[in-house]
Amino acid sequence: MKYFREDSRTAHAAKAEAQRLAFAPIAFQTSRLLLNSGILAAIRASGRLGLTLEAVAAKTKLPRYGVKVLLESGLGTGLFCLNDDRYTMAKLGHFILNDPMFRVNADFVHDVCFRGLYDLEKSVRNGIPAGLKTLGRWKTVYAGLSALSPKAQQSWFNFDHHYSDRAFPAALPLVFALPPKKLLDVGGNTGKWAVQCAQYNPQVQITIADLPRQLTFARKTIRQHKLQNRVAVYPIDVLAKSQPFPQGYDAIWMSQFLDCFGEEQIIAVLRRAARAMKKDATLYILEPFWDRQANETAANCLQQISLYFTCIANGSSQMYHSADLIRCLTQSGLKVVEEHDHVGEYHTLLKCRKV
Ligand SMILES: C[S@@+](CC[C@H](N)C(=O)[O-])C[C@H]1O[C@@H](n2cnc3c(N)ncnc32)[C@H](O)[C@@H]1O
Repeated sequence: MKYFREDSRTAHAAKAEAQRLAFAPIAFQTSRLLLNSGILAAIRASGRLGLTLEAVAAKTKLPRYGVKVLLESGLGTGLFCLNDDRYTMAKLGHFILNDPMFRVNADFVHDVCFRGLYDLEKSVRNGIPAGLKTLGRWKTVYAGLSALSPKAQQSWFNFDHHYSDRAFPAALPLVFALPPKKLLDVGGNTGKWAVQCAQYNPQVQITIADLPRQLTFARKTIRQHKLQNRVAVYPIDVLAKSQPFPQGYDAIWMSQFLDCFGEEQIIAVLRRAARAMKKDATLYILEPFWDRQANETAANCLQQISLYFTCIANGSSQMYHSADLIRCLTQSGLKVVEEHDHVGEYHTLLKCRKV
């Protein structure tokens, strides 16, 4: 891959970056609050003229002291400029205010990860999601998705959907180039992919396989779209060998699914899928691999998201390098027959067959 090969920073820039990192959790919380309190919007609206501290406090109806420390923190982070006691918007403030991806990522980090990450070291040493207790008492986050607090649940779904929503429309023509009659969506979550498949191809029959509690969301989506005669559900914990893996499908779809598991579990799941596949069946895997990203920022986002899996989700999975997953496929009696990078923007679609 073309980046992460050399250290291109000057020593001066590296020294400065180290201090930014030391205070990054504070700058993160401040930036969110500047956004959510309306301070960023008020300053943006003031244009080139800018606003004084007193004007910001008056417009947002917040105490002067609180606004003062927030503004000065944002100034240090680079969200604003300050001239003649007036704050104006800098480019960084503009993107925090207007880029939906900032809100999606920052809400996920705040509502799902932030408190739990305090216990990262315990997770790393013991291979357990030590921070999950800050959300609820489950073995993995997947067991508790349907019981998360409304705020954490909203942020989790917004995060998950933000990325797969971009990839699904681009993946549809690739999957339906040779239209499957029966498609199994493993880890189908709220049913978004199943609905898009049913709308894209009027013949295809879809089954969503997911954990029993999680299927409540899929059932709701199926009813809302009146697709009961085209989309079925199949409750399963794919890690439980006693629960039969569904058979007889032309295509099996796994989107942002295998990253929920450690490598040994991935191999176990893929072997089960391979055994359930007919000779000519196709397995499609849609994943955002960090080594296949168009730039370092996208790769870095995925590398950081891995720590959510370490500390919150299950203690053993991550956002993978493509070679990790391809190795698991090979060890499971499967081979990649086609690869498509930048599906949507960040995903790779692996089309696989039995060896
Ligand atoms: C990150 S979501 C991906 C959702 C969807 N496929 C997408 O691309 O947006 C992972 C899904 O896998 C399901 N899942 C996790 N562990 C599972 C297991 N052991 N058995 C079955 N489903 C599981 C979760 O409930 C969730 O719906």
